[in-house]
Amino acid sequence: MHTLTVLDIERVRGQFPILSRETKPGVPLIYLDSAATSQKPRQVIEAMSTYYERQNANIHRGIHRLAEEATESFESARDKVTEFIGAKSARQVIFTRNTTESVNLVAYSWGRANLGKGDLIVLTEMEHHSNMVPWQMLAQERGVRLAFVKVTEEGLLDLGSFHDLLENKPQLVAFTHMSNMLGTINPVKEMTRLAQEVGAVVLIDGAQSVPHLPVNISDIGADFYAFSAHKMCGPTGIGVLYGREDLLDEMPPFLGGGDMIKRVQLETFTVNDLPHKFEAGTPPIAEAIGLGAAIDFLTSIGMQAVHQHEKLLIERMLDRLEEVPGVRVYGPGVEHKGGVASFSFEGVHPHDVAQILDGQGIAVRAGHHCAMPIHEKFGLAATTRASFYLYNTVEEVDSLIEGLYQVKEVFG
Ligand code: ALA
Repeated sequence: MHTLTVLDIERVRGQFPILSRETKPGVPLIYLDSAATSQKPRQVIEAMSTYYERQNANIHRGIHRLAEEATESFESARDKVTEFIGAKSARQVIFTRNTTESVNLVAYSWGRANLGKGDLIVLTEMEHHSNMVPWQMLAQERGVRLAFVKVTEEGLLDLGSFHDLLENKPQLVAFTHMSNMLGTINPVKEMTRLAQEVGAVVLIDGAQSVPHLPVNISDIGADFYAFSAHKMCGPTGIGVLYGREDLLDEMPPFLGGGDMIKRVQLETFTVNDLPHKFEAGTPPIAEAIGLGAAIDFLTSIGMQAVHQHEKLLIERMLDRLEEVPGVRVYGPGVEHKGGVASFSFEGVHPHDVAQILDGQGIAVRAGHHCAMPIHEKFGLAATTRASFYLYNTVEEVDSLIEGLYQVKEVFG
């Protein structure tokens, strides 16, 4: 029996076939790596198999029965995304491969059409590589300047530094909604308002927020917002770019090919309407259907309940980590933190920590988590990270703590 939370945790866990496996005989899996990718509930797996078993056809092209059904399922997934994130229109919801591709799409299309030498992009020191490298590439190619909002010792954005940078009137401000290393949940609505007041376009990396918090993008007011399906109970291979419709309309296409055109002649083409304008080639059809099923699943549970459940877990984790000698946790206290705890263990390399935990069936991530600059900021090459989702339990947090005592025993 698991400790009570806002969720019917036995029922939730029962939906995830993988959670009943053992990592070796007698050692059950304790999966604490959901910030890297989440596990998938049965209804997502089944929705994708059903598509392949019953509907498999290409979309938007055929006029046969299967093509019609596949198109309807694909577009209905888009409608589910639209509603889930509070977008005003399905025209604003573009399917990409993942968050990384969504940010790259904006950097290539909007960035190259609108930014040039001397223009300024403001990022933060806590960005994931996906929201840093595409802008660095643009900066190198076009002479655009980059500036970074500082992160405090506590792991919060230094809003004083944010205000100072806005005085330089950046053309673009891009930041994460929730840090994948520190777990910090940023005040995105307020930051968006302040950035837009000085005329900046705002892009938010929502890879870690959409899966874990109630997110209404229209309310936040961002111009672009990016996230991935695989971190929110959906499949890999599909992500979303939400965009302000007038910006998307004005932007040049990203990739060229089928579906993103209305008409092609030997020397020229005309682009399709939104959102197809940015979806060249056969899209990830089964994956979109899987994402739609993931949204149905998360909606049936409620994002507020998911968030509250994770708060309970992170609270327990932070409390209990304090008692383990030699452990230092990075990032703010529970008030500003999602279900992510990155920590160092004095005298023990994160890979060794992860390996000993793995021996007990506990899956955590060790490394720089694709966020090298924020590690460097704290003088670290790597950390061990435990990250939670709706299927984790308080007992699993306690097992992790016991595992850390074993690490201590092994390494003295
Ligand atoms: N960006 C993912 C993570 O934080 C892969 O682990």
